Amino acid sequence: MRFLCLWAALLLAQPVVDLSAQTAYKGKIENLPVEVAPQPIAFSHKTHIASGMKCLDCHTGAAAKERAGLPGADQCLLCHSAIKADSPEIQKLAAVNERGGKLDWVRVYQVPDFVFFSHANHLKAGERCTACHGDVEQRDVLAKEVSTSMIECMNCHVKREVSRECHLCHDLGQ
Ligand code: HEC
Ligand code: HEC
Ligand code: HEC
Ligand code: HEC
Ligand code: HEC
Repeated sequence: MRFLCLWAALLLAQPVVDLSAQTAYKGKIENLPVEVAPQPIAFSHKTHIASGMKCLDCHTGAAAKERAGLPGADQCLLCHSAIKADSPEIQKLAAVNERGGKLDWVRVYQVPDFVFFSHANHLKAGERCTACHGDVEQRDVLAKEVSTSMIECMNCHVKREVSRECHLCHDLGQ
């Protein structure tokens, strides 16, 4: 399936992809920042980081897994069953949790499923959250501030002298 997707994308994108020269690729350029629709709960990174929390407290996968992951209402309620329990936003949160529901966070950063990306491997190499996501700790509302286009991946891989072989990020089959 991943292979088929890439194959279709390759056909569509042929005019801009020069297979013979890995650095000649242009691809799409994103207009930043990209705003997203309002989140189901008005969550502020700025408030929570200011209160002493660390990125990995909520995005527990970032150090050891491909996915950083997003927290569920139960994790928020570890604090919010006591903190600001009367606030309308926290009551919304508690209601979602009581229904056993998942919080449908509106996604900000996402690559297509024919792209391989691992947080763990980038963090082990010493990359910081800010390089790919901007100053999250200063934001009340997140928008996409750093591009996830192929050219953006390539630019950093050039700087860090990391491979730009197609199969590094795409499953090309045999
Ligand atoms: C470690 C404890 C802790 C966790 C976990 C936590 N928060 Fe908070 N949250 C706080 C603190 C502290 C404040 C600031 C309270 C204040 O302004 O006095 C806050 C404020 C808020 C507010 C603003 C409430 C208001 O009306 O002013 C919202 C909304 C909120 N948090 C949502 C969340 C969500 C959603 C999660 C889970 C993703 C979460 N919080 C996880 C500690 C926590
Ligand atoms: C209290 C829990 C909490 C902490 C601490 C926290 N985050 Fe988040 N993060 C969330 C929640 C909830 C969302 C989804 C809502 C949103 O996008 O604002 C999110 C979303 C994100 C997203 C967008 C994900 C996507 O693609 O949809 C990024 C990037 C992110 N956080 C980075 C960070 C970084 C970097 C830090 C440390 C500076 C951090 N977060 C600290 C709870 C947290
Ligand atoms: C080298 C770039 C890079 C770095 C460094 C990075 N991220 Fe990401 N992040 C991405 C990309 C690309 C995606 C989209 C991944 C996808 O769609 O599979 C993403 C997605 C996310 C998401 C959405 C949920 C998920 O895992 O897909 C969160 C949350 C997140 N990052 C948090 C963080 C935090 C916290 C850090 C630092 C500890 C961090 N990221 C470091 C590039 C990066
Ligand atoms: C800020 C710099 C930076 C950005 C941006 C970046 N990378 Fe990387 N990437 C690195 C470094 C450094 C390594 C080497 C890691 C190692 O030594 O294993 C790497 C390695 C990789 C690897 C090989 C290791 C593994 O996980 O299998 C893949 C795949 C990869 N990157 C995909 C991506 C994709 C996809 C993007 C864009 C969405 C991206 N990278 C953006 C710095 C970056
Ligand atoms: C470092 C990771 C990385 C490498 C190496 C890489 N790509 Fe990509 N590629 C991406 C990402 C990320 C996207 C998705 C961009 C988007 O749609 O947001 C992508 C998308 C594509 C697309 C879909 C069209 C488009 O522009 O979105 C094609 C076709 C493609 N890549 C071909 C290639 C070819 C051919 C090579 C080898 C020359 C290659 N890629 C090497 C990360 C990479």
